[in-house]
Amino acid sequence: MSFDVAAEAYDRFMGRYSQLLSPQLADLAGVRRGQRVLDVGCGPGALTTELVTRLGASAVTAVDPSESFVAAARERNPGVEVRRASAAQMPFPDRSFDTALAQLVVHFMPDPIAGLAEMARVTRRDGVVAACVWDHAGGQGPLSQFWHAARALDPEVDDESELAGTRQGHLAELFEAAGLHEIEDTSLSVGLEHSSFEAWWEPFTHGVGPAGSYVASLDAERQAALRETCRAMLPPAPFVITALAWAARGVA
Ligand SMILES: C[S@@+](CC[C@H](N)C(=O)[O-])C[C@H]1O[C@@H](n2cnc3c(N)ncnc32)[C@H](O)[C@@H]1O
Repeated sequence: MSFDVAAEAYDRFMGRYSQLLSPQLADLAGVRRGQRVLDVGCGPGALTTELVTRLGASAVTAVDPSESFVAAARERNPGVEVRRASAAQMPFPDRSFDTALAQLVVHFMPDPIAGLAEMARVTRRDGVVAACVWDHAGGQGPLSQFWHAARALDPEVDDESELAGTRQGHLAELFEAAGLHEIEDTSLSVGLEHSSFEAWWEPFTHGVGPAGSYVASLDAERQAALRETCRAMLPPAPFVITALAWAARGVA
């Protein structure tokens, strides 16, 4: 999945949830002052910023394959080394970091086990690898209402539920297959209030991620049908979307 979109479009679509997840993932990984950490698939830098707040910019390194996100992460986090790279092949020597984190990324890796193994390679012995992925398969993710409506109109839609790590326990299985030890299998949860239906819907129209790409693939009539099905399924505004992410932590 390519994220060739403006950072601001991402912020409004998924960044509004991921910035709430970042402190929880950093806590799960036990990030603390004095460590050197790597943010894999940093996007425009939601987790990167949290890590900089905890450790200082010089202790944080980040990678992402998207050119626009790399530019935004650099601009938003001066002093952080942000490289354009994918998880499968990272430009760092073995054991460069105390901790490597991937927030909402594993399900987009073409080979998640290889990506996690590469995260383990660049993490020092006994250092921590941690990741989280929304519960797309269990229907408790931030996009579950959207995909529910999309399935009602198009039962064949590719709704992200088949992606790696999106079902309970799968992320931990991937960690084990990648050779990590002392694996903790857990979940994180965030809640976000939406002031109106339009405020919730509009970010879906900017082509971000699989859901945005799906909306962009529909003609105006089908887009309107999807929008109105979503409206009918959601509670009256303001409403809170509570979103669950599966999370795992392992030792390299
Ligand atoms: C949902 S965004 C998460 C961004 C950020 N971590 C956050 O929490 O807001 C997914 C990110 O994974 C990146 N990505 C996709 N495939 C990747 C891969 N193979 N290796 C590393 N990052 C990847 C995308 O470019 C995008 O920035």
